Amino acid sequence: MTFTCNMENTDKKTILSGIQPTGVSFTLGNFLGAIRCWAQMQEEYNCLTFIADLHAITIRQEPSLFRKQIFDCFTLLLACGMDPEKSALFVQSQVHAHAELAWVLGCYTQFGELSRMTQFKDKSTKYPENINSGLFTYPILQAADILLYQPHYVPVGEDQKQHLELARNIAVRFNHNHGDVFTIPAPYISKSGGKINSLADPSKKMSKSDQNINAYISILDPPEVIIKKFKRAVTDSENKIVFKDDIEKRGINNLITIYSLSTGNSISDIENEFANNGYGDFKLAVGEAVVELLRPIREKFEIYNKDKAYIQECQQKGAEKAAALAARTLRKVYRKVGLR
Ligand code: TRP
Repeated sequence: MTFTCNMENTDKKTILSGIQPTGVSFTLGNFLGAIRCWAQMQEEYNCLTFIADLHAITIRQEPSLFRKQIFDCFTLLLACGMDPEKSALFVQSQVHAHAELAWVLGCYTQFGELSRMTQFKDKSTKYPENINSGLFTYPILQAADILLYQPHYVPVGEDQKQHLELARNIAVRFNHNHGDVFTIPAPYISKSGGKINSLADPSKKMSKSDQNINAYISILDPPEVIIKKFKRAVTDSENKIVFKDDIEKRGINNLITIYSLSTGNSISDIENEFANNGYGDFKLAVGEAVVELLRPIREKFEIYNKDKAYIQECQQKGAEKAAALAARTLRKVYRKVGLR
C-alpha cells in the first residue's frame, strides 16, 4: 500500500527535528523548549519529526527496554499534539536512506572535523569503556538525517549547534563538488525560547540523563511526584519572587520561567501576583501549574498506549512518507557521485 505524501506544499518551508528515544521519556524542559513548539509549527511548516534510534545505540542499550522506549517516545509525540496526517512522524531506523546517505557523506567529512566535536569529547570521557567509532561518526549520520529531507530549518539547542554547523559544511562541500544537491539548513531559534534548568542545580540544563531524579520533571510524572519535586527545588534565602539577572537567583528565575511558560503569564504579572508570598507558596503554585499543563498529555498517552496497533500503523505510514522523500535525495546523490 502506498500513502500520499502531503509534504509537498511548496508555500510552506520545511523544518526537521530529531529526538533521541533514551532515558525517562521527555522532560518538562524538552516539552517547553521544543516539543510544544513542534506541535504549533505544524500549521506553519512542513514538519518532519523523527525518533533518532540509530543515534542512541552509540551508547549501550538494553534491547527490550530500548524497544519500549522507542515506542513510548513515538506515542508521546502523538500525545503532545503531533499530527501524523499533517506531518511526517517516523522512526529513523525504519527509513534505510539515513544509513546509506551517512556512508556517502562520511567520504565528504574530514577526520579533523569530527575530532573537534565537543559532544564526542564529552561522551568519550563519560563512557571510556566504549569509545566506539559510531560515537565518532555520529555527526555524519545526523548530517544525513538532515540533508536527506532538504529542510530549510532545524531547531537546535546549544548542544547541537556544532553538529548542525558540520552538516552545513558537508552540504556546502558536496554542492561545491557536484552542483546544487542539498538545501543548506539554517538553525531555527524557537520564539518562546524556553530554556529550563535543573531543579536541583539551576546552573545546569534540565536533563533526563541526570543521576538525580529530583533534578527533572518527566512529562509523565504523576501529579504528586511533580508537586514533590517542585517543593524540593533549590532556590536561595531571599524568599522574594523577583526575577533578577544574578547567578544567585538562578533557582527562582528558573521557577518563574517555568510558571510563565506554563501559564502564559508575563514575568512582571507573576512578580505582582506573588508580591506577598514566599517561596513555599510559589513552589506549590508552579507545581500545580505544571500538573495542569501536563495533565492532557498524560491522559492522551494512556489512551494511545492502549492502542498499539494504531501506533504501529502511524509508524508505518510515517516511515513510508519519509522514505519517499528521502529516496529522491539519495538517488540524486548516488547519481552525482557516479554510483549506479
Ligand atoms: N543529536 C540529536 C540529539 O541528541 C538528535 C538528532 C539526531 C537530531 N539526528 C538529528 C536532531 C537531526 C536534529 C536533526 O539531540
